[in-house]
Amino acid sequence: MSEIKTSMNLDPYERNWIIISIVLAVIFAIIIAVAGFAYGIQVPSPEQRVDPRTVALEGPWADPGLRELAPGKYDAYILAQTWSFVPREMTVPVGAEVTFYITSKDVQHGLKLQDTNLNVQVVPGQVSKLTITFDEPGDYDYICTEYCGAAHAVMFGTLHVEE
Ligand code: CUA
Repeated sequence: MSEIKTSMNLDPYERNWIIISIVLAVIFAIIIAVAGFAYGIQVPSPEQRVDPRTVALEGPWADPGLRELAPGKYDAYILAQTWSFVPREMTVPVGAEVTFYITSKDVQHGLKLQDTNLNVQVVPGQVSKLTITFDEPGDYDYICTEYCGAAHAVMFGTLHVEE
């Protein structure tokens, strides 16, 4: 038979772990706030909605690729489709700040740009947007990260960053 407790007697171990849990939650909240507000770390989020049936026919994804807005500042429109990225290759100078706008005209894909924090889902009807500054020259491959059918594994491209 177990006793029915009439008052809340916490075991010291239990109390200590409750305190540690609360302190950890507060520390995590502070880290998220500092990352978001002080360092400006962005979470990829849907930028805008588009119609996947017409997105490849009109607007910027009808002619995907780089747009130079100002010296060293680019927009990169990438269209994902089964099973390729358009364009497959792009070239920017070192130091370029590139804002990527990525969408799909058919099924769900993903895009990860190697050696950067660009790693987004590419959902038909939505635009994924992220800005990256390229301080190191080199070839940055982008690959599809969501299984999208038979030729998923050959869905990739390369961004060249040149001196
Ligand atoms: Cu596109 Cu996997």
